[in-house]
Amino acid sequence: MSTIQDRLKPIVALCKRRGFVYPGSEIYGGFANTYSFGPYGAELKKNIKDLWWKMFVHERRDMVGLDGPILLHPKVWAASGHVEGFNDALIDCKSCKGRFRADHLIENALKLDADGMSLPQMTDIIRSKVKCPKCGASDFTEARHFNLMFQTQMSKTSADGDVAYLRPETAQAIFVDFKNIIDTMRVRIPFGVAQIGKAFRNEITPGNFVFRVIEFEQMEIEYFIKESAWEATFDRWLQSMHEWCRAIGLKESRIHEKEHPKEQLSHYSKRTVDLVYDFPFGRSELYGLAYRTDFDLKRHAEYSGQTIEYTDPETREKFVPHVIEPTFGVERTLLALLCDAYEEQQLDNGETRTVLHFAPRIAPIKVAIFPLMKKEPLSEKAQKIFAELKRFWYCEYDESGQIGKRYRRQDELGTPFCITVDFDTLENDTVTLRDRDTMQQIRVPCSQLLEVLSEKLK
Ligand code: GAP
Repeated sequence: MSTIQDRLKPIVALCKRRGFVYPGSEIYGGFANTYSFGPYGAELKKNIKDLWWKMFVHERRDMVGLDGPILLHPKVWAASGHVEGFNDALIDCKSCKGRFRADHLIENALKLDADGMSLPQMTDIIRSKVKCPKCGASDFTEARHFNLMFQTQMSKTSADGDVAYLRPETAQAIFVDFKNIIDTMRVRIPFGVAQIGKAFRNEITPGNFVFRVIEFEQMEIEYFIKESAWEATFDRWLQSMHEWCRAIGLKESRIHEKEHPKEQLSHYSKRTVDLVYDFPFGRSELYGLAYRTDFDLKRHAEYSGQTIEYTDPETREKFVPHVIEPTFGVERTLLALLCDAYEEQQLDNGETRTVLHFAPRIAPIKVAIFPLMKKEPLSEKAQKIFAELKRFWYCEYDESGQIGKRYRRQDELGTPFCITVDFDTLENDTVTLRDRDTMQQIRVPCSQLLEVLSEKLK
């Protein structure tokens, strides 16, 4: 039977081999839990972010975008509750100095949900029932809180001391600029503000490839409403999040909803539902949807001394809006897409074909164009087609090696269509169009290529 790591291993290997994801700072021996997104990983991430922005900002009338700073005033994180409460419980093995998240130790060793347990409870359970996963000893320190925010130093002239934090969520920049947005834009409640950007967390035990990393990207929406509308708005956003999963082509059977029990809610949330995905290493959080109430805006009003209110243009009623927050991780989206799309097929000739079945709209390369062999006038004709198609889609031209190997390479990159210019092309101006999933080839007149591909790549 394959182990969890075995099931993720071929995907990690393909990512390195084919230029999706490289280990961070590899020439220096690596830098733990950091990754570089190679040319195809960068394309995939860009496609994810572009489609998200199109679907949630451009195609809606009730949304605007924002690009706020990574470094916000340190008071922001006091107001948001992150300085005080953005902690994980950490515990060390005294024998091998291994460092673990206490809740993960309990969950993995005893299959017990540790959310909501106090530090002394976790210490007692671990000391009495858990062995160190690294060395097998049962000699643990007390569990203690560890703040996940990365700290950095500002210049010595900074008025509020030297410490600044790299943002652990993008959301706060939206709350900080709420007043600017209502003063400068013609937005009316209900409306939302969307943002895509980097977030940083000093995770105690990162892992499972890019699933839990210390530097990642979030795509977040803060949707401002009247308090009375929260339940209906929450339900609508939950459906929109499922629609997004369908749009990027994730298998619906692998996506589930997980309601957070009341006692496990974050300090700002009155209700949270996670969309969890069946990753090779188990069912884990992909996205989250939270009802943040008016917590953040009220706290920023309190800590900044500013009035942060919305005035209803009809009734002139002033109030602090409530917030529904759908949040999406870019790296987790990429990982779910890779796991969902990955297949090793046994072919009749005994070979194994590795394919990424990406939905065309998300695939890094849309079309690959080959001459049957590197020879004129086949190459010239293929390059002409490449020049024409790359005006519309990200395409790749390849003329090196056997044609079969070139197809296999594109299968591993998840390219939905390959076009081959062969000797018949010179006779009748048609090319073969190969479908990645069925491997079927049809002949298409060159004059119809744009039309046929536009339909297939919709
Ligand atoms: N503003 C709310 C918020 O930050 P969260 O559940 O802590 O909520 C939101 O994070 C999303 O960010 C998660 O659903 C996940 O997709 C992604 N995410 C969180 N921590 C991550 C990490 N360490 N590595 C990669 N992605 C992460």
